[in-house]
Amino acid sequence: MRNESLNPHLSDALPDELAGFRPTTTPETSRHAEGTLIDKYGRHITYIRLSITDRCDFRCTYCMAEDMEFLPREQVLSLEECLRIVRTFVGMGVTKVRITGGEPLVRRNALWLMEQIAVLEGMKELVITTNGSQLDRYAVPLMNAGVKRINISLDTLKPERFKAITRIGDLDKVLRGIEATRTAGFTRTKLNTVMMRSINDDEFIDLVRYATERDLNISFIEEMPLGDVGRGRGNTYFSSAEALKLLAGSFELQPTAESTGGPARYWRVQGSDSRVGFISPHSHNFCDTCNRVRITAQGELYPCLGQNDAMSLMPLLRENTTDEPLREAIVRSMGIKPKEHNFTEQLDAPKVVRFMSMTGG
Ligand code: 5AD
Ligand code: SF4
Repeated sequence: MRNESLNPHLSDALPDELAGFRPTTTPETSRHAEGTLIDKYGRHITYIRLSITDRCDFRCTYCMAEDMEFLPREQVLSLEECLRIVRTFVGMGVTKVRITGGEPLVRRNALWLMEQIAVLEGMKELVITTNGSQLDRYAVPLMNAGVKRINISLDTLKPERFKAITRIGDLDKVLRGIEATRTAGFTRTKLNTVMMRSINDDEFIDLVRYATERDLNISFIEEMPLGDVGRGRGNTYFSSAEALKLLAGSFELQPTAESTGGPARYWRVQGSDSRVGFISPHSHNFCDTCNRVRITAQGELYPCLGQNDAMSLMPLLRENTTDEPLREAIVRSMGIKPKEHNFTEQLDAPKVVRFMSMTGG
């Protein structure tokens, strides 16, 4: 059950006219941003996740169907269009941007975009989510481009199993990529592990050990019903609560108050600098502090990962040379961000027809 008392704004939605953009009245409170985006429920939107491609060099079984069809090039935002979108959001108070995919590093010139975003006035944190396949050659360039932190997907440490889960991937290459990020000087790198019963639940302890030995953080993610991947997800579902119990048998875990405004709760692993997080999209505990929206590679603005409501930004970009219509659409989108998602009812019958590779993590 969600705790309504956590955020008084949530028990009642604000009147519609109050959702949108609130200009800063006292400039000294915010040196760069001209104001803040605020949704109907009083949540400040300071974080965007932008998928720069729906393509990927893996085909993870929980993420994609085997015979995925990808978008034709003209339906994908150009990198210049990506930059216009990010620049507009940053001008409206967004300070954190995550570049995702698909696999963002398979997009040609992705580094150019990151360099441009990193230096936008008002930007504080440019971060990326990757499957790690290209990191052995991109770790240093990403550091030079101004990327602050990296999240890397890693569901198993067994090569055969890695091949089975990703359908194509080479574990060794990803492990080399992880080492490359450490050599390049990245800190607080986070591994993301999707929990799947009878598929990788026997490796959670080894994965945490792998992380602590390298000062990495690790998050265990409950599988989300995104896209029809050709199998039900009810059988493989593994809850965060069960994973926490399992890991507490091998590690001394201390709760922390750290929160990123996302669906993760973190525990510190005693005797190391690592944190273990549990991402529980099925619980609603995090919706009331949600600070983010997502933009797909097609330029659709999704106020919530778990809902189908979206706003198409691409025509606004292609039909206008100024960014004002885009800005207006972003303001309007604040009125359609829902109070919470409804994943849990959908485990075996996905209502959200998008694949994760469309919206990014
Ligand atoms: N449920 C949960 N996590 C998923 N990911 C991809 N698809 C799903 C899904 N259906 C994960 C990837 C990556 C992160 C961005 O999202 O493994 O770590
Ligand atoms: Fe690619 Fe990530 Fe989807 Fe795997 S989960 S297919 S790595 S986008």
